[in-house]
Amino acid sequence: MLVLGIETSCDETGVALWDTDLGLIADSIYSQVDLHAAYGGVVPELASRDHVQKTVPLIEELLDSAGQGLRDLDGIAYTAGPGLMGALLVGATVGRSLAFGLGIPAIEVHHMEAHLMAPLIGDEKPSLPFVALLVSGGHTQLFKVDGMGRYELLGESLDDAAGEAFDKAAKMLGLGYPGGPEIAKLAPSGRPGRFRFPRPMTDRPGLDLSFSGLKTHTQTTIRSIGEPTDEDRADIALAFEDAVVDTLAIKCRRALEATGLTDLVAAGGVAANIKLRARLEQDLPRVIYAPLALCTDNGAMIAHVGALRLAAGETAPLAITTRARWPMAELEPV
Ligand code: KG4
Ligand code: ZN
Repeated sequence: MLVLGIETSCDETGVALWDTDLGLIADSIYSQVDLHAAYGGVVPELASRDHVQKTVPLIEELLDSAGQGLRDLDGIAYTAGPGLMGALLVGATVGRSLAFGLGIPAIEVHHMEAHLMAPLIGDEKPSLPFVALLVSGGHTQLFKVDGMGRYELLGESLDDAAGEAFDKAAKMLGLGYPGGPEIAKLAPSGRPGRFRFPRPMTDRPGLDLSFSGLKTHTQTTIRSIGEPTDEDRADIALAFEDAVVDTLAIKCRRALEATGLTDLVAAGGVAANIKLRARLEQDLPRVIYAPLALCTDNGAMIAHVGALRLAAGETAPLAITTRARWPMAELEPV
């Protein structure tokens, strides 16, 4: 079965072809980062308009590059949520309509389930059940995963997502967007020990997290300096990254202890952070990630989950439904 995946939930237009026998056979991404950089964050209306321009040509190029035609497709998967409503509607409308026109099934994919399952695309696979850390620009959650669609929420951020905190801290430091990679780039030249940022909610039991205080702390630190020099910025980036990494690692270890499990899957954009990876590997028995390129948003993870759900007999109704919010607990077990 050959499945086309379409991702347009935020600022990346991602398309991919997944073959249920061969795996990923083609993958293409168009990033809107330059479009939004001037604004220091994603402008939803600009994102939607850009997806409108890019989605169809990207699908045509993808099929050409793989030597496939529309008639070779057996199903179409698209991100139906959670994400920016207008952006989601573009991929969902293209995907649903194309499937209707071709007379093949369509499937609605949950963006975070796609992130969570992306590590299964790699060579090293986790054994079920496992604990999953989902860390992206919109979500920071810990789940116990008993199987596909069987997710028990163990804890989550009560305010900002970790990626969002990275993005906001970077903006305060006058760095580019997205902020995570910018902070990660600058932090190694920071001097350890000059600042120590708080590790929110680690001094009490439980698996919930909070990152908005860290944002305020960053702001206060910058204000106390006045006009930060490049060296100040690097010192703050380092203290910030250390605090996020430390906090996430503490909660992950706690989640494994609480569930008695050994495998941790780390997924979502922030899981691309090298320092976080090193720290998790040092602290935990076994950590598995998606291939680096598939940690941030992409079409491959959508095609992958879509193919799994289509193979289990699920299909999307004809109505095009997208959701800005979509709790993972509402997903059907496969
Ligand atoms: O999963 P993703 O691509 O999109 C969402 O679904 O949100 O995650 C994007 C987030 C952004 O906040 C970005 O700053 C963060 O992931 N990110 C990173 C790194 N690469 C991306 N954060 C820290 N370190 C990185 N290397
Ligand atoms: Zn994402």
